Amino acid sequence: MTDNVKTIEEIKKFLECRSLPLACVRSFGCQLNVSDGEKIKGILKQAGFGFTDNEQQADLIILNTCAVRENAEDRVFGIIGSLKHLKELNPQLIIGICGCMTAQSHIEEKIRKSYPQVDFVLGTSSLHSLPELLLNAIKGCGYSADTAEYHDFPSVEPVRESSFRASVPIMNGCNNFCTYCIVPYVRGRERSRSADEIIREVESLVSQGYKEIMLLGQNVNSYGNDLKNGMSFPQLLHRLNEIEGDFIIRFMSSHPKDASEELIDAIFSCDKVAKHLHLPVQSGSNDILERMNRRYTIEKYLSIVDSIRSRDRDFSLTTDLIVGFPNESDEDFRKTLELIRSVKFDNIYSFIYSKRTGTKAADMEDTITDDVKSRRMRELLEVQREISSEHYKRFAGRKMRVLADGVSKKREGFLTGKSNEFIIAEFPGDSSLIGQFVTIEVTETKNWAVTGKIIDQKENY
Ligand code: SAM
Ligand code: SF4
Ligand code: F3S
Repeated sequence: MTDNVKTIEEIKKFLECRSLPLACVRSFGCQLNVSDGEKIKGILKQAGFGFTDNEQQADLIILNTCAVRENAEDRVFGIIGSLKHLKELNPQLIIGICGCMTAQSHIEEKIRKSYPQVDFVLGTSSLHSLPELLLNAIKGCGYSADTAEYHDFPSVEPVRESSFRASVPIMNGCNNFCTYCIVPYVRGRERSRSADEIIREVESLVSQGYKEIMLLGQNVNSYGNDLKNGMSFPQLLHRLNEIEGDFIIRFMSSHPKDASEELIDAIFSCDKVAKHLHLPVQSGSNDILERMNRRYTIEKYLSIVDSIRSRDRDFSLTTDLIVGFPNESDEDFRKTLELIRSVKFDNIYSFIYSKRTGTKAADMEDTITDDVKSRRMRELLEVQREISSEHYKRFAGRKMRVLADGVSKKREGFLTGKSNEFIIAEFPGDSSLIGQFVTIEVTETKNWAVTGKIIDQKENY
């Protein structure tokens, strides 16, 4: 970022005549993208921008996009289209598009040719080019783009969305090439961040009072593989667990093919690591898993679940599932239902398969109709609803440590929070508790949350 200091000073000069220029930064997609959005805001803050959520008030609008499914892209194109009107009303408005969509050359070309209201396009991992592209736009130099390079982890101070929950990217990119997935094409190969930098960032966040640290990567289990003499992910967890303070460590995502006993040992032996694992399985059929190039079998997946549950019968597990992968048969789908019934996930994140240009699965024959895919999705959600209703009953009467995170929109006088197990909790409480740990006793369980009452609101329970 240091070579950008001059560019940022120049932007500031140009903006001096405006009272406080406002930027509206909207991030879509996964938490890694949200974290990039926080860094984008960090750069804009250095350049003198304030922030607004209202596009109509903004001098600069940045859409930080996601390419993982077609509907995510359609939504962004819809928004870009609607911004044309705002630009007509305010020709000084600057519009920038960044994130995963822009890393696909056909998308960058479409934006360049069909959306003249866009001033610049910035690829993933090109955040260092933001000041230069912004300055070009302010000077009225016309459309510019940088979608080429992979420069990760710029040392900019992010403008964080929360004052008690912080995301810390530990790696970027993915080497796995699951046949349905666009991420390796838009984020490049795995690059791990140095352990020293991660530790310094977490120490600093904890000293500022952050209570929950979310370590982010597409496959955190392969953290460090690309570093010379680097730490493994379980070693990193042990090291972060030693940092003094009252905080909780979460991480996502874990790929089952790399989920080792060492990782499970670390989860159980590190007291600050949350007792919850998000372990995306994608399908219950070995046939489909092979065609997805996931490189594990259901038997291997179940052995990981067994190893965890043998240490803690009630351990909380969540997963991702794809419905309607090309030529997924009724029998394949039945195996997915069988799997979720046998594992009893606390929650599933399920997606209808979306064809992504450039991936291997895009060339696979697919004779399943959209109706069948939607029906399977409804059935999957219905079965999971029954499972979570039943499974959440294990929390009845239990004490749970919860990080209070907001005021309930549904029940007056209630707060919401997330338990160590990643379960949503609602409980009566005062908004002054937001951002603090409280202990609740669970009085009622539902299929998506628990309700309770506070029994201890001391900081250090
Ligand atoms: N790296 C993570 C992993 O492998 O577990 C997943 C990251 S991906 C951004 C999040 C989820 O999106 C995946 O687990 C998968 O379920 C879903 N997904 C990815 N590509 C998809 C596609 N083409 N269609 C539907 N869902 C997709
Ligand atoms: Fe996509 Fe697979 Fe990489 Fe996850 S592991 S980001 S699903 S290619
Ligand atoms: Fe989407 Fe890119 Fe994340 S494609 S899910 S924003 S890595």
